Amino acid sequence: MLYENVSKIFKNETALRPEYIPETLPFRDAHLNRLEHYFSEFIENPGSVCPKVILVGKTGTGKTVTARKFGQSVETRGKNRKVRYIHVSCFIHRKLFSLLRDIGQQLGLPVPKRGLSVSDLIQLLLDLMEERDLYSVITLDDVFHLVNSSDEDEDQLGSLIKLSEEVYYRCGKYRFCFILISQDTSFLDRLDRSARSILGNVVIEFEPYTREQIYKILEQRAELALREGTYSEDVLQMIADVAGVDEDDLSRNSSYRGDARFAIDVLWHAAKIAELDHAEKILPDHVREALKHAVPGVPREYIENLPLHKKLLLLAIVRALKMRRSEAYVSFGFVEEVYGMICEQYGEKPRRHTQLWEYLRDLRSLGIIETRLSGKGRRGRTTLISLSRDLRAEEHIDDMSRRISVSIPAEPLENLERLLEELIKRELGE
Ligand SMILES: Nc1ncnc2c1ncn2[C@@H]1O[C@H](COP(=O)(O)OP(=O)(O)OP(=O)(O)O)[C@@H](O)[C@H]1O
Ligand SMILES: [Mg+2]
Repeated sequence: MLYENVSKIFKNETALRPEYIPETLPFRDAHLNRLEHYFSEFIENPGSVCPKVILVGKTGTGKTVTARKFGQSVETRGKNRKVRYIHVSCFIHRKLFSLLRDIGQQLGLPVPKRGLSVSDLIQLLLDLMEERDLYSVITLDDVFHLVNSSDEDEDQLGSLIKLSEEVYYRCGKYRFCFILISQDTSFLDRLDRSARSILGNVVIEFEPYTREQIYKILEQRAELALREGTYSEDVLQMIADVAGVDEDDLSRNSSYRGDARFAIDVLWHAAKIAELDHAEKILPDHVREALKHAVPGVPREYIENLPLHKKLLLLAIVRALKMRRSEAYVSFGFVEEVYGMICEQYGEKPRRHTQLWEYLRDLRSLGIIETRLSGKGRRGRTTLISLSRDLRAEEHIDDMSRRISVSIPAEPLENLERLLEELIKRELGE
């Protein structure tokens, strides 16, 4: 892009994108080695064993990037590419059917879009894999969503795990093995006993990053992404101070602490602001400004890529929640009213009720919001809406009753509102 060619700050902006995989992952060698260790037999001797490993850690601790890095080495070594690495986001694919289809597509197998039941689709996948003698290490990322999304009682994850074993009885070889990623191990409680025992208990923990570690990670990214002389140690240190945990206080509860994604996002934002400012380099003020913009939780691309009216509806939800600060949920009716006002503000023609319903469902399936039905009230049941767990920074789970009490702090709402307003303005060319 012309714009990037003339940038005084960036030399390679993609190195600050969330999906970028750096050459080396500082502080995650031990984790990678453990993955190598557990999967080496499957890779050397495809189908002989069926390892299953669980990666757990708080947001931004490098679970996804470590699994992908491991995947790169599987892809280069996997016995003439018989062993393939597949990474599926359960955040996007929340139903077994769509998840299996994605696996099929990533394996390059001809899987039809519709017309098959889940069990037909499984049969087809296995037949095709056998025919081509393929094996696969499958990472189910954010597997938590697969366990929680089913409205029905079916146990999607349990079925998948059991399937990996059943295949063995069918053809004497294991075709899949799994890496499961989640922020904690609570999803295991939802599995039945046999699925849990098949899964085993190999858990690799990802600790939150300390300030020094975040500093090193930022340094690596800054060298790749930014021109020399455009950033100082102080600027990186400022971000690391906010994003890293103190060495002696790993339990610190802020949602930003130990989160490399947050840190990298702040650096990217600060660089962008410096550029807009026509500055020669990133200054502490740019970092302060960037800190105001950062939204922890849901990946930024999900929000950036929403079509205009879904952004407007999300903005309406955010504003409605801000107006009813003391409540964790707002009603769909109220959100619609606010949406109407927002459309007026931007001179946009409001979408109809039924269309908004669909948007609401889509926002929910992307994991940005959550909905539930109210108890029977004065006017029957209404749909109540809140931000997703990931965006509600403060949440307290009572271990005894497993009840969740929620309070939405001001910051995520304000930041999300600002981000949406910026994106909408840009889109409308204002
Ligand atoms: N050790 C590391 N070295 C370099 N970059 C890292 C490291 N750990 C994380 N990152 C970067 O930080 C960002 C967040 O990491 P990642 O997506 O792997 O987190 P995660 O643990 O999967 O978080 P979540 O639970 O929110 O999905 C990514 O851009 C990743 O490249
Ligand atoms: Mg992740």
